[in-house]
Amino acid sequence: MDKLVITGGTRLVGEVTISGAKNAAIAILPATLLINGVCTLENVPNISDVKIYCEILQTLGAKITWLSENELTVDTRDINCMQAPLDMTSKFRASYYLLGALLGRCKEAVVGIPGGCNLGARPIDQHIKAFEALGATVDVSQGKITAKCEKLKANSIYMDIVSVGATINAILASVLAEGTTIIDNAAKEPHIVDVANFLNTMGADIRGAGTDVIKVNGVESLHGNTTYSVVPDQIEAGTFMLAAVASKGDLIIRNCITKHLESITAKIIEIGGNVDANGDKLRVWCDQRPSKANIKTLPYPGFPTDLQPQMGVVLSIANGTSIINESIWESRFQYTGELNKMGAKITPNGKTAVFEGVEKLTGAPIYATDLRAGAALIIAGIIAEGTTEVYNLEHIDRGYENIEEKFRKIGANIQRIKEN
Ligand code: EPU
Repeated sequence: MDKLVITGGTRLVGEVTISGAKNAAIAILPATLLINGVCTLENVPNISDVKIYCEILQTLGAKITWLSENELTVDTRDINCMQAPLDMTSKFRASYYLLGALLGRCKEAVVGIPGGCNLGARPIDQHIKAFEALGATVDVSQGKITAKCEKLKANSIYMDIVSVGATINAILASVLAEGTTIIDNAAKEPHIVDVANFLNTMGADIRGAGTDVIKVNGVESLHGNTTYSVVPDQIEAGTFMLAAVASKGDLIIRNCITKHLESITAKIIEIGGNVDANGDKLRVWCDQRPSKANIKTLPYPGFPTDLQPQMGVVLSIANGTSIINESIWESRFQYTGELNKMGAKITPNGKTAVFEGVEKLTGAPIYATDLRAGAALIIAGIIAEGTTEVYNLEHIDRGYENIEEKFRKIGANIQRIKEN
């Protein structure tokens, strides 16, 4: 089992460059199925979720060519199958995008029930509701989801809850449908705008992405021969912003869209840190022990659930007692048990956790319980006194490109040890 060994007590200083967004890339890759041609994607994060998605697309007949570390072409001219391998698709959550994309392209899709991080119940009723509204029948049985239709016909879809995945899936299924689809109470995350921008570049007609009403005017076909660059990762940028604060460091964070980071910026300033936005870079620094704060996670533009664990590390060493209310994922406080092994005083209770700030954390062997928890625990190891060993790295590798190298360049003493 590989592990990261971190010798803590480091103040992070220097420059870090943010990669393309995981949650945009793993929606854009399946979106290429709607094109009958070749497209080039730039700023693709080189992470395991992207590699799995590429493998899945290849099993459907797509040709993927990596041009460099972060650039690839997808040729979807020979798609010959609408059933993605069940063992591969049930490995991770974002395989649900194959449903919308294959329905759009082939009028039929079969996908294993999506897996992914264990964050609690992860229903897909809103995805199904969208497909059915567009004329598909959906069957969930024997560990798989089958969606079929004669043809897709536009409709009005009102989302009962704000869902990133269901909003993107409704877009994917309606791009080639006949007529104008209205998606109401849509999610507004930056990666939704990015998927819409990608599809529009390929000839789709999607308006209003980034607001809560999205209008999709169905088109006959999408074209290839286009290059698209994936948006910078808002969550990776936020992770380094919070690492700067936790370590009382001083970081320049390059290749980010500062507008996407406003909720994090506001909280950092509230707890005594400093943020200076300049073009596509941010300087984040903190010269004092952060002060307590209360956080409630919300859909964008609220404070993102995907930065809740990283903020939890900051609040674990803050001056005073903080409360985090997690309103998206019921099991997102699993990391608090690991932080408590390092001397934190956190009491989770359902959707709320109370963080009684301690002066310092101390190193311990700890386990990444999910992707963002893993990033948070690395930050904890970097600021802790002594040595921390972080296990379950497969969670972290799903979503962060070269994470230990990026932390090493800004001063962290962190090594990956390969073990059988
Ligand atoms: N929900 C339903 N029914 C649905 C869909 C969602 O009840 O049909 C509920 C969920 O249970 C949850 C809430 O709605 O309580 C929001 O879920 P959403 O659908 O927005 O989440 P998702 O699309 O499954 C994406 C990201 C997550 C991120 C959430 C929230 C991807 C692949 N995943 O998940 O990212 O936490 O949005 O922003 O884009 C991560 O990157 O670590 C991660 C978990």
